[in-house]
Amino acid sequence: MEQIVNKSLLNATCDANDDAIAVINPATEQVVAYIPSISSSEILKLVEKSKQAQKLWQQKTAAERSKVLETWYQLMMDNADDLARIMTLEQGKPLAESKGEVNYGASFLKWFAEEGKRTYGEVIPEPASSKRIMTIRQPVGVAAAITPWNFPIAMITRKAAPALAAGCSFMVKPANQTPLSAYATAELAYQAGLPRDLLIVVNNHSSVAVGDIFCTHDDIKKLSFTGSTEVGRHLIKQSAETIKRTSMELGGNAPFIVFDDANIDDAVEGAIASKFRNAGQTCVCANRFYVQDAVYDEFVEKFTQAVAKLKVGDGLEEGVTIGPLVDSRAKESVMGYISTAIEQGAKVAMGGQGLDGLFVEPTVLTDVTQDMDIVQTELFGPVAPIVRFSDDQELVEKANDTIYGLASYFYTGSIPRAFHIAEQLEYGMVGINEGLISTEVAPFGGVKQSGFGREGAKQGIDEYLNIKYMCFGGL
Ligand code: SIN
Repeated sequence: MEQIVNKSLLNATCDANDDAIAVINPATEQVVAYIPSISSSEILKLVEKSKQAQKLWQQKTAAERSKVLETWYQLMMDNADDLARIMTLEQGKPLAESKGEVNYGASFLKWFAEEGKRTYGEVIPEPASSKRIMTIRQPVGVAAAITPWNFPIAMITRKAAPALAAGCSFMVKPANQTPLSAYATAELAYQAGLPRDLLIVVNNHSSVAVGDIFCTHDDIKKLSFTGSTEVGRHLIKQSAETIKRTSMELGGNAPFIVFDDANIDDAVEGAIASKFRNAGQTCVCANRFYVQDAVYDEFVEKFTQAVAKLKVGDGLEEGVTIGPLVDSRAKESVMGYISTAIEQGAKVAMGGQGLDGLFVEPTVLTDVTQDMDIVQTELFGPVAPIVRFSDDQELVEKANDTIYGLASYFYTGSIPRAFHIAEQLEYGMVGINEGLISTEVAPFGGVKQSGFGREGAKQGIDEYLNIKYMCFGGL
């Protein structure tokens, strides 16, 4: 932590004590800092503060709220190096990726600073001459979020920015593995002029305890979650009691398809970016590859050569492109998927081994078939299983044969094929000749058991607004 220049970003850390939460650097498995665990009774008091703060915030004009978000954006840019370093220290991703995430995370502040000014209502043609009808859009109230460790800043700002721009207050429970980025980002919001009670970060040893409060508290009007489908399912059930609005960005099982008319060099480049970003630990990472007969050997050869150039190591070291997995559970799980695939008949074209600490070799598996467990599982690791296919229709069925529907990718040189395939894929997002699809300007989200609701884009703010219809009679 000595390397962090702006020490105010570490304001939330505390000394080691029995109740503190230890934050571990996954590259070294050493403690980098401690943060306090906030008790359930304290969190309940914070919900009340958040509620009071929201009442005042919604009375501000959109332009006033926008100004705070703009200043926050600027402070994130000014502190990008420190934020990136904090992120790499607690999450493990290479420093260049952390910087990319700081920019990506900050982009939501800038975007929603503008979108907040456009939460228009409507005037609707009246059904009777004595009436006039209009709608306005109002903030839902206190919004809460539970965010994951794989994008410790962007998954917070992608929710906080539209919530605050809409006039909501915002409470967030970041993952216990990566709270430092959350606190540092919030600190900059306070320095930008946001009242502290409008953005409250809470951590407790028990994520379940915080989740219980967020789901069941009647004063929390909205819950946004990014994480696994299993946890999302549980949170939806818990939120049913208070009929809470929820949005869920859940697991994925992205197919990455290479057709026989694709530019193979482009496909390899897209595949590396999509598969190995964040060591394969994103919901939108290519999870299984389908490559058509005629280009199968060429793709496997070029892809394997490209994978061989990736450098595994501590994300703070120059030139490292693959960091560690986030913790020992993640490593065990990925190693288990690799060994089961090999038992079921997959061949190792590259890698396949666990390395010291939490590192795993980037791995390419060939001769993979649709019935293998690895094709049906969200891997969350640097492992690329490759399936061969012949026929387009058979391919679409295989690609859709999953409970998930978040991201999908394919490469083709044919415009008709691009339309046919894109329309048939049962996914919320499709990359066509493109391996990186995340941007603040497009609606991010899934279908099927990958969840519902959209983040970013003009749609993202709708998640934090209620529509009120007003009927003026007796005219
Ligand atoms: C995620 O993995 O949940 C988000 C990935 C992204 O925003 O690109």
